[in-house]
Amino acid sequence: MDKRACVLGASGGIGGAIVETLATSGNFGKIYAGARREVAKRQSPVEGFAFDFADEATLSVVADRIADEGPLDLIIVATGLLHRATNIRPEKSYRELDAGAMAEVFAVNTIGPAIAAKHLLPLLHRGRQSVIAFLSARVGSIGDNRLGGWHSYRSSKAALNALVRCFSIEMRARNPQAIVVALHPGTVDTSLSVPFQRGVPAEQLFSAERSATHLLEVIDGLTQDHNGGFFAWNGDPVIY
Ligand SMILES: NC(=O)c1ccc[n+]([C@@H]2O[C@H](COP(=O)([O-])OP(=O)(O)OC[C@H]3O[C@@H](n4cnc5c(N)ncnc54)[C@H](OP(=O)(O)O)[C@@H]3O)[C@@H](O)[C@H]2O)c1
Repeated sequence: MDKRACVLGASGGIGGAIVETLATSGNFGKIYAGARREVAKRQSPVEGFAFDFADEATLSVVADRIADEGPLDLIIVATGLLHRATNIRPEKSYRELDAGAMAEVFAVNTIGPAIAAKHLLPLLHRGRQSVIAFLSARVGSIGDNRLGGWHSYRSSKAALNALVRCFSIEMRARNPQAIVVALHPGTVDTSLSVPFQRGVPAEQLFSAERSATHLLEVIDGLTQDHNGGFFAWNGDPVIY
């Protein structure tokens, strides 16, 4: 009950389900739930806050506030961008690459989480095991890429995975009890996947609640040996 968590992307399908699952577990005394816009009034132990990757000050302000209240046992970065009706569509070919769209995808999937880590990694508990998990995607695996396509999304997640490994190595020295991982949530029925669900067998399309439950089980089973790893919803390692 004295555990404390912070979730970025609490307005998202998976991030929202993670906040709910943590809240109902009864194991957390405080859950900071960050979103660009607060969707609804939060009830204890959930405390909402606003941040935007486009404004680093919003991250430093909230990090200072959390630091004043105590260390974190768990941080989950559940933000992400795959498509936007107006201007972002996963590419089928290098001929569709667009610098502006690609920069936006990297800003949300790679640079934003990196800057969030800059402000949140120092908040991880030093007196006991703590975890920071970044929601990545199996398609970000370079070794597992046999289909091609989705150039911006894949490469932004591959770059995120590289950062996860960097953070894990650095944290080994700075806070040996901290575990840094990338997680693949499965194919999950959220607004991010809606345009791409055709052809996904029903049993392979998870609800956000199911994915959240799986991811939190994986996180519960992590040990120091897993630091720097990339794991799927069922705990299986994903090759980088
Ligand atoms: N769904 C899947 O099948 C699937 C599969 C593999 C990996 N993933 C990964 O899982 C994670 C969660 O995805 P999801 O399915 O839950 O997607 P989602 O429902 O679309 O949620 C995405 C979240 O990212 C936030 N976000 C986007 N741009 C942002 C910005 N500039 N600053 C701050 N927050 C921003 C959104 O906030 P707003 O509400 O303010 O836009 C929202 O909270 C992502 O990293 C995604 O790549 C999902």
